[in-house]
Amino acid sequence: MSVSKAELDSFTNVLFQKYGIDFTCYEHQSLSRRVNRVLHNFKVDSIHELWVMMLRDRNLIFTFMDQISVGLTSMFRDPMTWVELKKIFSTYKYDRVINVWNAGCSTGEEVYTLTIMLDELGILDKVNILATDMNQSAMEDAKKGIYHKVKMIDYEKHYKQFNKFGNFSRYYTTDENHIIMKDYLIKNVKFKYHNLTTDLFPGQFDFIFNRNVLIYFDQKMKDKLITQFYQSLKPNGYYILGFYDSILSEEQKSKYINTLSSFRLFQKPASVLA
Ligand SMILES: C[S@@+](CC[C@H](N)C(=O)[O-])C[C@H]1O[C@@H](n2cnc3c(N)ncnc32)[C@H](O)[C@@H]1O
Repeated sequence: MSVSKAELDSFTNVLFQKYGIDFTCYEHQSLSRRVNRVLHNFKVDSIHELWVMMLRDRNLIFTFMDQISVGLTSMFRDPMTWVELKKIFSTYKYDRVINVWNAGCSTGEEVYTLTIMLDELGILDKVNILATDMNQSAMEDAKKGIYHKVKMIDYEKHYKQFNKFGNFSRYYTTDENHIIMKDYLIKNVKFKYHNLTTDLFPGQFDFIFNRNVLIYFDQKMKDKLITQFYQSLKPNGYYILGFYDSILSEEQKSKYINTLSSFRLFQKPASVLA
């Protein structure tokens, strides 16, 4: 099964017209791979057949979106970045509530990583977190905070690199096959559907985590989102990308101070000239 560029372009255009969901700005090769995987999952041979199924079943678009956007994540992904972040969060001023946006939270491992780090710094209650994604089923998993024990082998290893003296098991309970994250970790977290390409950005933040999400988009959309994220950062705020994201261009970087590019951490200046 292979989907031509022309087929993909007309499909993404028609999806945009009918549902207002914009895949026209997704990077072509990776979108094509993802669409092929969905065709396989739905046991159909062509985009045309998929489209006919969508016309018959109004809800199929949501399953399609979930399957297209599904992405890998992990707890304490890139542990040394979390060591850097811990230093940054520990020196931040907490004379007011700090607002964090986790844009592209997937199944929630990054949110739990963040709240565990905040808990260890004793500032969990001083931070409000908005966690968003366009993948509804991933976000449902995020809210539950239940992960298969097999995954924990890697997560535990990452955690030990982050804090070799810490005790990871105090953050969850277990059943036969799963670990269940403790509720208190996400009591200040609000999960919300948000599509980065079509929805308004939700306010001003001190920290914006946007790790391994830009990889989905073509260059034009990446540039647009990078500008919007910059505008959504408060003075002194941090923009945090992932290791799969390319480093910002020299021009984009020049707007930030304290660019720890190797960790994909970028701090906005305290004041910005108009
Ligand atoms: C690879 S995961 C990254 C998860 C986490 N940030 C990390 O680095 O471990 C990418 C996430 O981006 C989300 N995503 C893709 N397109 C999106 C869009 N248009 N709006 C919001 N989220 C999107 C996917 O649903 C997926 O959950």
